[in-house]
Amino acid sequence: MSDLSVGAEAIGGVFEKAEHAMRTVRARTQVEPRVGLVLGSGLGGFADELGDATALPYGEIPGFARSTVEGHAGRLVLGEVENVPVAVMQGRFHYYEGYSFAEVTFPIRVLALLGVRALVLTNAAGGINNAFSPGSLMIITDHINMMGANPLRGPNDERFGPRFPDMSEVYDLEFQRIATEEARALGIELRHGVYAAMCGPSYETPAEIRMLRILGADAVGMSTVPEAIVARHMGVRVLGISCITNMAAGILNQPINHQEVMEMGERVRDQFARLLRRLVPRLVA
Ligand code: HPA
Repeated sequence: MSDLSVGAEAIGGVFEKAEHAMRTVRARTQVEPRVGLVLGSGLGGFADELGDATALPYGEIPGFARSTVEGHAGRLVLGEVENVPVAVMQGRFHYYEGYSFAEVTFPIRVLALLGVRALVLTNAAGGINNAFSPGSLMIITDHINMMGANPLRGPNDERFGPRFPDMSEVYDLEFQRIATEEARALGIELRHGVYAAMCGPSYETPAEIRMLRILGADAVGMSTVPEAIVARHMGVRVLGISCITNMAAGILNQPINHQEVMEMGERVRDQFARLLRRLVPRLVA
């Protein structure tokens, strides 16, 4: 674990660390990314299809932690999607792995400093809404942070953004409209809903899922929300897409396992890649 986690006194140095990481990435590639993508569990394959790509293992980027969970390759791939320069995170850092929120969200700071103005956050999630089924793709319309903390806690660095950033439209309405349009054009059925983020790593109990449903959640996962908050802090526009890999605990009469989650990610992979290829060019103004 890096010293990003040591607390308030280190936070003041995050901007400098992020700049250092940004310069390290710039020294390795000519690509000046405009769109950033974070690929969730089982969805990492998209990064293998980029044109003119440079891949940097996270271990080679100063300040980046290392991804430990199975199914996350852990590298930043810079390249092009339909001639649009992009930076793709193949694998992310999760709070449940033991990283601090500062570590989980550090790459988002770096992407923004690299020039990314639009960010696509993808994840695997459990379906709470009974109208969903495994394999559904859901556009995130809003989130509920159930992780018990906020990544912006601690001293605020105004160079990143304001102390009290507005969160009334975390997931860009225009991006949601574009995604819905492109999915329709491809004949892909898209759902829309609210994503609740839990700490994990245990899956939820049936009682917790009933609670989340009452609170207004349509899907549940263990990521995305800290990254979305930090992106908004820096004025980056966000699109969130969940792959419903399983129905959440207690909905079907069967246990949830990580293997199943990964396999469903693989199954929607092609559909997902087709959607992203059409979407990305429309996310640059
Ligand atoms: N719960 C939490 N996170 C998840 C799930 C789930 O059911 N499926 C995939 N990620």
